[in-house]
Amino acid sequence: MRAGRAALSCAVWLTCLPSLGICALPGSSLLPLGTDLGDGAFDRPREVFRSESAGGHKSYMVVLGDVAFSSPKLLGGVARQSGISCGTCHVNGASSSLFYIPGLSTRHGNFDTTSPVFNPKTDDSVLDPLTIPSLRGAHLLAPYGHDGRTSSLRDFVRNVVVNEFSGPEPSPQVLDALVAYVDDIDFVPNPRLGAGGRLVGEVSRQERHGEKLFNRPFPHDPTLSCAGCHQPAEAFVDHRQHDVGSGGLFKTPTLRNANFNAPYFHDGRFDSYEQVVDHFNRTFELGLSARDRADLTAYLKAIGGGDRGVTADDVPTRIKECTDFATALDTAIPQRDAAAAILVVDTLDREWRELTEKFPEPKDTTVTGGLEQRAKARVAAKAMVLALREVARALEEGHFDEAAAGLGRYRERLPATVAAMEEAKSWSLFDRPLHDKHFAAMQTLLEVGALKTQ
Ligand code: HEC
Ligand code: HEC
Repeated sequence: MRAGRAALSCAVWLTCLPSLGICALPGSSLLPLGTDLGDGAFDRPREVFRSESAGGHKSYMVVLGDVAFSSPKLLGGVARQSGISCGTCHVNGASSSLFYIPGLSTRHGNFDTTSPVFNPKTDDSVLDPLTIPSLRGAHLLAPYGHDGRTSSLRDFVRNVVVNEFSGPEPSPQVLDALVAYVDDIDFVPNPRLGAGGRLVGEVSRQERHGEKLFNRPFPHDPTLSCAGCHQPAEAFVDHRQHDVGSGGLFKTPTLRNANFNAPYFHDGRFDSYEQVVDHFNRTFELGLSARDRADLTAYLKAIGGGDRGVTADDVPTRIKECTDFATALDTAIPQRDAAAAILVVDTLDREWRELTEKFPEPKDTTVTGGLEQRAKARVAAKAMVLALREVARALEEGHFDEAAAGLGRYRERLPATVAAMEEAKSWSLFDRPLHDKHFAAMQTLLEVGALKTQ
């Protein structure tokens, strides 16, 4: 599966399309034309936290880690300048099946982590892209990396920041926070899974038979079974690496919430469970009939499901994220921790600028109607950005009381801003048909742009 790297084309990246008044991937001029950072996705993975599922709330460290996870400033070089953060790839802590960089990806959802683009020092001159894993349930999934090379989550995360993405050495606090956040990301609940990973509820005949096959020893090697490696009581992993005929030793991936994790295997070679099951059937000569294979697939779908694993992007979810992020300031400001507070304000600033862009400007011809409502929503969102700038200025000058007062004013503005956004929702990119139309127009223009630069 290994091939020489295709030369990265240094095409001119169009950031803006003035004719339509829309901008694509602001600041991504360092990545080749055809890059897809997943901005066009309407649905987003649902984020569930262990602390909240347990009836509690996210700690300061978890929130600060979530903030850092969403900040391109944590990374360095091309990633930072292109606006890429941990969350660009691990969307809401899950995966991204859209992510694509020409020359680095062989398909959407994978990319080469050892290429010269993000850190020339890691380049191994081989195109060996890896799929972006979901971090749901990460606390149960050591060792880390597809090859399971690192047992410590902290070491893995530091390596991602410093070596993979040329970021500056993170402070111990930021690193601890990132780890606390990743450690708190939960699987979305699957009502079909009972104690010990047993299938419960209305189990169909197919699923029941699939479960049996999953637990049955392989005919040519009775020491092996699907369940021997994917142990149902252990989140369907065994914390070990195996050669399953995919080109090396890789860790057993979890099958929980795996319905949302395609493409499958370390390099994303398979699109579906059907293909995975065919692979095991061939490689281990399991002699499964077409019906057995369908039953096993039905079982995988049942255990790999999750309640609302993806949800439509909407105003309340975005606002909850901003509100959660801002709570970190209630600790950082009284503690006079300027570094942490500035990171939070900077990330919030980015979130609000992104939210502003959800309400297209009048000159964007892909959206008609709701001009007044859109303008009001934009003005309101921009006022949030300005309020945050005041907080930032106070923090930079070391005036923590002023920063606290500024945070108060930011919060006072929030309800009116949310109301303006809700009013304008049906003419915004929070409207699915409009969203799809907008991104389709942008895609067309990018293709025209690509032709022009050839
Ligand atoms: C450009 C996309 C991208 C970005 C940005 C990114 N990751 Fe990843 N992440 C990946 C890929 C691909 C892998 C698999 C790497 C491997 O196996 O070596 C991975 C693996 C991981 C894993 C291991 C998961 C497991 O179960 O083995 C963790 C934890 C992780 N990333 C956290 C982070 C954090 C924290 C950040 C930000 C500091 C980040 N990632 C930024 C793509 C990305
Ligand atoms: C010897 C241990 C072992 C056995 C036995 C095994 N698996 Fe796996 N499984 C793995 C490993 C390792 C991978 C990852 C391979 C890779 O990344 O290249 C994997 C990957 C998968 C995936 C893809 C998950 C993802 O997110 O990429 C599915 C689905 C799966 N196995 C189901 C099964 C089924 C069904 C069986 C029985 C027919 C089975 N496995 C038997 C170790 C095992």
